[in-house]
Amino acid sequence: MRTMKSSDNMIFLGNTAYNMLWDYITGGEPTLRRDLEEIADILYPKAMQFEISSNGLNVKKLEPIIKKYPDVKIRFSLEGFELTNNKIRGEKDGFNKKVNGLLHLKELGGTDLGFAITIQDDNVTELVELFKFASAQGFELATSTLHNGFQFHKSDNVPYDRLRVAKHIEGLIVEMLKTNNVKNWFRAYLNLGLIAKVLGHERLIKCTAATDFVFIDPWCDVFACNVRPDLKMGNLEKQTWGEILFGLKADRIRKEVWNCKQNCWMVGSAKTAMRHPRYAKIPNGGPLLWVLKNKIRVLLGAGINFEEYVDYSKVHHDDYVPKRDIFLTQNVKKRVQTKDEVHYDRFGEFFNS
Ligand SMILES: C[S@@+](CC[C@H](N)C(=O)[O-])C[C@H]1O[C@@H](n2cnc3c(N)ncnc32)[C@H](O)[C@@H]1O
Ligand code: SF4
Repeated sequence: MRTMKSSDNMIFLGNTAYNMLWDYITGGEPTLRRDLEEIADILYPKAMQFEISSNGLNVKKLEPIIKKYPDVKIRFSLEGFELTNNKIRGEKDGFNKKVNGLLHLKELGGTDLGFAITIQDDNVTELVELFKFASAQGFELATSTLHNGFQFHKSDNVPYDRLRVAKHIEGLIVEMLKTNNVKNWFRAYLNLGLIAKVLGHERLIKCTAATDFVFIDPWCDVFACNVRPDLKMGNLEKQTWGEILFGLKADRIRKEVWNCKQNCWMVGSAKTAMRHPRYAKIPNGGPLLWVLKNKIRVLLGAGINFEEYVDYSKVHHDDYVPKRDIFLTQNVKKRVQTKDEVHYDRFGEFFNS
């Protein structure tokens, strides 16, 4: 992040200039950083889209950023309506704080604001209503579903009733295709990918981690993605982008990505795979055809034949469904880790399928 030689939205590797389409700051919680505004000042000019993902509880910290850069994409994690959100996230009055916070940022001029929901057993019935609620106020609703990965410090996430969760996502897909918003139509396809993820199927499109996107952690370590800690590509304090992205190690990691059996489908890895491999501003053929076909079907009132895309007879069987850890009752406050420590050592085997 720091060592990029850049002008506008290009990064230069040797004499070759590359476009950065999307800079995404997530966490942990970005608003806890004292230097968030400074980070925004550096990153905003470098990318065509700059996004901050936050819990939405510290809106003050985002005010100066939205005033300076009204089109910064801001997403507040929201896991349902009041009772559901506050219970899942363990937040005192979280729902109201997020809704009011986003409305406040809208008043300040924000133009790309929305909520982000992680679809799971406990909130899936609220999905369609939450989408309507967000849309009515001019907000987006980004969707993901439970994953395991080192960024989340989780290895025990599986849906308890896969079929039920997957079937509820269908409703959101139809609702998104009914709108006049092209972005929503492609989000509908992204949600089709979430059905595959929830059922434990293969990804709709192969993952392009380490080629189309990378993950940088707070210690400048660059990983192919935010899921597998073993796919570390290098470190930006010690190496240039060129050394990290090219060379034998990068080649080996890309091969690992190609053969990766984790079927994650998160916004980073789904959105990038849905774009044209060469012309990243336009969609890939598969999602485009799906959108055209099913938008027309929905317009004509024919509905979507989900069986054409999803084999509902195949639902991944979990031999053992662990009871997910609840941290609310535990004292999990940790000391701050130093740069030289091993940061992700407690992750053993886990699987996203
Ligand atoms: C890691 S959070 C960071 C932003 C913020 N600190 C927050 O509390 O949401 C970014 C997004 O990841 C989602 N998320 C968190 N844990 C997840 C998991 N295990 N699987 C999938 N998504 C997860 C959150 O719901 C949120 O929408
Ligand atoms: S599919 Fe594999 S390489 Fe791609 S994001 Fe998931 S773990 Fe990373």
